[in-house]
Amino acid sequence: IYGNEKEIGKAIAEVIDNGDVTRDELWITSKLWNNKHRKNQVMPALSQTIEDLQCGHLDLFLVHWPVVLADGVGFPESGDDMVSLSEIPIDETWSGMEDCKDIGLARHIGVSNFSVKKLEGLANANVRPEMNQIEMHPLLQQPDMLEYCNANNILLTAYSPLGSPDRMQELKAEGEPNLLTNPVISAIAERHAATSAQILIAWAIQRGTSVIPKSVNVGRLRENFEASKLQLTDQDMDQIKGLDEHYRYVKGQFWTLEGSDYTIANLWDE
Ligand code: A2P
Repeated sequence: IYGNEKEIGKAIAEVIDNGDVTRDELWITSKLWNNKHRKNQVMPALSQTIEDLQCGHLDLFLVHWPVVLADGVGFPESGDDMVSLSEIPIDETWSGMEDCKDIGLARHIGVSNFSVKKLEGLANANVRPEMNQIEMHPLLQQPDMLEYCNANNILLTAYSPLGSPDRMQELKAEGEPNLLTNPVISAIAERHAATSAQILIAWAIQRGTSVIPKSVNVGRLRENFEASKLQLTDQDMDQIKGLDEHYRYVKGQFWTLEGSDYTIANLWDE
């Protein structure tokens, strides 16, 4: 849905052809978009992604949202563009995902934006989700999710770990908090001679989650990688714990169109 797989595919082919890396040294994740949730649509969607990425197989394939769109709808404009989960349930989509793993096109399969309740809904699947990729940062720590996933062998990936400052203006709430200038984070950064972004990344790693800070800037990519060398103290972790206010930057309001079955409450199950 980000429209970048063909150009990333070209880049992957180039670095492999150059001998800079091998396919095995890369971890490549992609996601199934909401308009391909019928069982028979899942594998063709994955095949297209693999063809565009020129990568042979995916390391991880995720169901992007527990939300279904009508065939051909990229982004919904009205409730008519939405399909309810009673018509195409997650179980059906998941069964298509399992087929992708069975034949090795996706080495691992998982979900994104799933609540504990929705993960529970797949607890009896042949292959349980191996990953849940969700928004996680000090303002949205989700301790219950972390505990549930740890207990059930599900890994977590934290998206928007820096508070997603580059989201489209119309998706931003008025006066929303800025994680990168948060005084607690800034003070910890100063103590470690690091940047706030590095503290946010180190915090996610120290909690045992994967973390995917996004950057198109080489210097910041390097800075973000360097964060894996930081070691936060118990006191740092305690102070950050105190910042939790269950604040979502990505609220998912774009799915809750009038006339659809989706609400903020049933999207997040809270
Ligand atoms: P840029 O791409 O210009 O580096 P998130 O990962 O929470 O979605 O946030 C992504 C945003 O954070 C992008 O706008 C990115 O800008 C910015 N960003 C990424 N790394 C850093 C960093 N180390 N310091 C400040 N901003 C950063």
